[in-house]
Amino acid sequence: MKIFIDSANIEEIREINELGFLAGVTTNPSLVAKENGDFHQMVRKICDIVNGPVNAEPLGVTFDEMIAEGQALASLHPNIVVKIPMCEDGLKAISYLARQGIRTNATLVFSANQALLAARAGASYISPFVGRIDDIGNDGLHVLTEIMMILDQYAVEAEVIAASIRHPMHVTEAAKIGSHIATVPYKVIKAMIKHPLTDLGIARFVEDGRKLQGL
Ligand code: E4P
Repeated sequence: MKIFIDSANIEEIREINELGFLAGVTTNPSLVAKENGDFHQMVRKICDIVNGPVNAEPLGVTFDEMIAEGQALASLHPNIVVKIPMCEDGLKAISYLARQGIRTNATLVFSANQALLAARAGASYISPFVGRIDDIGNDGLHVLTEIMMILDQYAVEAEVIAASIRHPMHVTEAAKIGSHIATVPYKVIKAMIKHPLTDLGIARFVEDGRKLQGL
């Protein structure tokens, strides 16, 4: 499973990119609103840092707005993927942009049927929001499992991005289920790296290494 970062913060993206495993970035209007600066410049800067798909979402939600903004975003850099929310105008926009050779990511997906329709409309990526499903007392990982089973069964080309990841176990479970990608917030990536036994082990090796050197 590939790891994307779910962030629009340039410092976070730069720091995590240096660790060598980062395969892409997802942003959304809420993440962008937390940062200062021009949206398109921000997206361009992210593309300069990360060598992989950079997902950016139009701010309008009508078909015409999503098409116009989607085309403008896609023209910024070849790695841009346009995020389109799952709705009737969204499906139309996904299909329209796909015919123009613009890759889209169907976002705000909460059911297997939504995933199937978005994939058939031509989305390159499908983003089930695992954590937000959990938030309302349903099972986000179960929905992810259903989506993977259905898309696999019909050899649908779209890649699935486990999104709205809340904690490291979401990442482990998404990988076990076979999700192609998980997009993970900065804090969760940091938590995935850490293990108390690793810290203890490093401290002991450093201590013994010093003894070996007679220090
Ligand atoms: C995915 O592309 C979204 O940006 C993101 O995962 C949303 O997650 P949230 O539920 O934490 O806002």
